[in-house]
Parts: sequence; C-alpha cells; structure tokens
Amino acid sequence: MKLESGQTAVVTGAAGGIGFALAEALCLRGLNVVMADVEATALETARASLGARGFTVRAETCDVANAAAVDRLAQTVLARFGRVDLLVNNAGVGGRLGPLWDSQPGDWAWTFGVNVFGVANGVRSFLPSMLQQGAGHVVNVASLAGLTAPPFLGPYVASKHAVVGLSESLAAELATVRSRIRVSVVCPGHVQSRIAASERNRPPALAAESRTPPDVLSRIHAGFVAALGEPMPTGELASRVLAGIEKDDFLILTHPQFNAEVRNRLDAVDRATQAA
Ligand SMILES: NC(=O)c1ccc[n+]([C@@H]2O[C@H](COP(=O)([O-])OP(=O)(O)OC[C@H]3O[C@@H](n4cnc5c(N)ncnc54)[C@H](O)[C@@H]3O)[C@@H](O)[C@H]2O)c1
Repeated sequence: MKLESGQTAVVTGAAGGIGFALAEALCLRGLNVVMADVEATALETARASLGARGFTVRAETCDVANAAAVDRLAQTVLARFGRVDLLVNNAGVGGRLGPLWDSQPGDWAWTFGVNVFGVANGVRSFLPSMLQQGAGHVVNVASLAGLTAPPFLGPYVASKHAVVGLSESLAAELATVRSRIRVSVVCPGHVQSRIAASERNRPPALAAESRTPPDVLSRIHAGFVAALGEPMPTGELASRVLAGIEKDDFLILTHPQFNAEVRNRLDAVDRATQAA
C-alpha cells in the first residue's frame, strides 16, 4: 500500500521501542497516527513528544489482550477518523526465559494473551470496517522466533509461530474474497527496545514465580546475549517495515544472518519426505 498523507494508522504498543519508532516514521510520512498502549504514563509521554513536533497523534490506553478494550479502540478511532488505512499489531511481551518444564500457567496466559490474542483482537475488531472500505494494510509484528525455535523461550516462540500462522491464514482468506487489503508479518532479530523488561506489564493476576534457579537463568541469559548480536536501532527497523508495506511484502525480514536457521526446518522437511 502506498503510504500517503492524511491516511490513518493505528499502532499498538506505541509507547516505546519498535511501536514508537513506527508511529514516528508514519507521522513523518504525514499519516494521522493513533498510538495505543497499556502503559498510560509512558504512552502520554510518547504522544506529547510527537504532538510537540506538530504531528496529528492521538493516544488511547488499551490492553490488547482484552477483546472488549480493542473493540472500544476500534470504535473510538472510527468515530474520530472515519476509517483505518493501516493497522499495526505490534504490542508484545518477551515472556520469561527458562526451560518449558519450568513454565507456569500464568506465563502462558500472559504471553499468549498479549502476543496472540492481541493480534487476533486487532484483526477481529478492525478488519470488518477495512473490508467495507475495500483497501488497507495489516502489519503483524512477529519475530524471527516465529520462524525458528531457539531454546529456553518456549511460550514466546510458540506465540510468535502463532502470529506467523495467523498472518498467513489472514492473507489467504483476504485473497479468497479478492480483497485489496494486504498483510505483512515482520520477523526481526534483535532490536533495541525494552522487551527484556516486559515483566513490567504482566498483570498481577497472571504473576508466577520463576522455577528456574538463578544460576541456570544467568547462563541462559548469557547464551542469548552471545547469540543475538548487536541490536538494530528501532528507526532502522521502522524504515524497513515502511518500505515493506509500500512493496506489499508479506514477509518483512531484517536479519538475513539467521536465514540458514530458517532453512534448517525446510531441509528437515525434505529429508523426512525423502525418508518416507
Ligand atoms: N526487540 C526485539 O529484539 C524484538 C525482536 C523481534 C520481535 N519483537 C517484537 O516487537 C514488538 C514490540 O516490542 P519491543 O521490542 O518494542 O518491546 P518494548 O517492550 O520496548 O515495547 C512493547 C510495547 O508494548 C506495550 N505492551 C505490552 N503489553 C501490552 C498490552 N497488553 N497491551 C498493549 N500494549 C502492550 C508495552 O507497554 C510497550 O510499549 C513485540 O511484538 C515483540 O515481540 C521485538
């Protein structure tokens, strides 16, 4: 979709990190941007910083895991702007490091609530009006962990695989009804953000003590730091995402150094079928 001045974009998780960079980049292209986030204070600071530069930005506090709250967000945006051209389902949490056998129900409910139900809620609440418009673009922010499966990040990996699968289904469904709405799924590697401090947004009702001993956790953490490499600046990621939207790219990939890991699965599929 060509990004044009006067279009309306909704970005979830826009108070910081990747979401803020996307909101800023869209403002610079002249779009009206609705920033949604569960962190009210950080969101207002973020909105004020863009508003002070003269951009048309609106902030809406919203927990994307809450279906009714996302419905209300859609109603508010439609009442104000009349249409949504670009929906960016970006809000996400990193979940907790540790082996799957240490994970607890609260870890799964929290990670899936935000990362999977958050995206599903966005699609469910916004797509009907976009379908009526007959045009638009949906961007779902997944992760390289939606295409590969690093150990000790089980609920996150499972949630991001779900986002990639959901995005593929959505694109196929839109093609079936010959819609001009396009879908992109973003699968970045390491990007500068506060994702490692995601616990700040875990609802108390889903709190769960880690069962993994601290020395094991610090070894796992050190392994991640070594494997991930230097984080990409959020502004660079945002530029890549906007370029991908304008080319109608379904997959937006930013870290080709991990392509071999993605291919490993396809090679395993080939080997398994040859062996059958
Ligand atoms: N940073 C990375 O290395 C990286 C890599 C791949 C994918 N991602 C994905 O990028 C997206 C953005 O994360 P980030 O890295 O900028 O992290 P971040 O923690 O800096 O930003 C995430 C934002 O989402 C918000 N948020 C959390 N729970 C929410 C909820 N329930 N409802 C609404 N908003 C909520 C947070 O308040 C925050 O503003 C996530 O989906 C994440 O999984 C990040």
